[in-house]
Amino acid sequence: MVFQKKCSSIERKHTYMEIYFEETKKKVKLLSSLIVFEGMKKIAVFTSGGDAPGMNACIRAVVRSAIHYGLEVVGVVRGYDGMINGSFTPMTRKSVSNIIQKGGTMLKSARSEDFRTKEGRAKAYKQIRENGIEGIVAIGGNGTFTGAKLFYDEYKIPIIGAPGTIDNDLYGSDFTIGYDTAVNTSLDAIDKIRDTADAHDRVFFIEVMGRDTGYIAVRSGIGGGAEMAIIPENNTTSTEIVEKLKASNSKLKGSHIIVVAEGDVAGKSVILANEVKEALPELDTKVSILGHIQRGGAPTAADRVLASRLGVGAVEGLIHGQKNVMVGVINHEVVYTSLEDAIEKKKPVNQDIVRIIDVLNGRTY
Ligand code: F6P
Repeated sequence: MVFQKKCSSIERKHTYMEIYFEETKKKVKLLSSLIVFEGMKKIAVFTSGGDAPGMNACIRAVVRSAIHYGLEVVGVVRGYDGMINGSFTPMTRKSVSNIIQKGGTMLKSARSEDFRTKEGRAKAYKQIRENGIEGIVAIGGNGTFTGAKLFYDEYKIPIIGAPGTIDNDLYGSDFTIGYDTAVNTSLDAIDKIRDTADAHDRVFFIEVMGRDTGYIAVRSGIGGGAEMAIIPENNTTSTEIVEKLKASNSKLKGSHIIVVAEGDVAGKSVILANEVKEALPELDTKVSILGHIQRGGAPTAADRVLASRLGVGAVEGLIHGQKNVMVGVINHEVVYTSLEDAIEKKKPVNQDIVRIIDVLNGRTY
């Protein structure tokens, strides 16, 4: 075990160790199994890709836990682009005060084209080396981790991903930061649309985000009491929707809420609504695309807690020698999954939960 130079005395107590840090004049009590200081002194944290509510809570957790363990932390502004341009900002406990409740990301986000190139990554690594950064926490989704894996493969810089995306589409964590908030935002909109749908006996197609997965659609659909949740995983056609509508009410009276995941094509709800209207012209169909409202707002308690756990887990992972992995929470436990698996493997939507919508709407198959 190699200890940091700054650490001047160490006293073993049961399964904990107390370490005194000369510079900060502070004693820190740590689980001894967690203490593997390998000389790492400075880390960087950044957010990248589509922002998600709770990213700020995760940044806060990374910064504060890193300082807790005696590490210096810098924030990279605007994701990989910021790394390429050397946009680093020192982070203190204070710089992350009062952000746990805020949506968006204080470090800004971007989808970097330059980082996709070898030259871009070489520039980024030069900045990392020149700034003495020895470990990185990347908060983002699939695209972010694809970049992180390439960066690790090329430069072997220890890097840990923390899953931050409203889509919840990453293998290696039951939930991703921002998903719960996005679901609740959609739910709030569905509840409101239901009022007007009911007043006019209309059929509403409500489109939610999720890229190519139906997680947001299924959860907000069940929570919002929808008649159907149309998700890319199930390739539901407009003919099937028409059949279900006919079966649900022979006279086609009353209101209906159909939640549609955007899938591969944003605006999919418009296509489906038009096809259904063509088959059943007597219906009064309307479309509401919720869009980026799902990405903003104060994170829910569940997202703040998840983000805090993942932020601490990322830093403890780095200290413990984890690299090229994503930190996640599975069955309430913090786990580490290789970035390769997190990117490549699928986390299928639970079809048993999808089935609930049919059961609650009186459909049997
Ligand atoms: O990945 C998050 C997400 O919000 C997806 O649900 C959506 O398809 C996409 O990002 C939208 O991206 P942008 O904000 O770049 O339009």
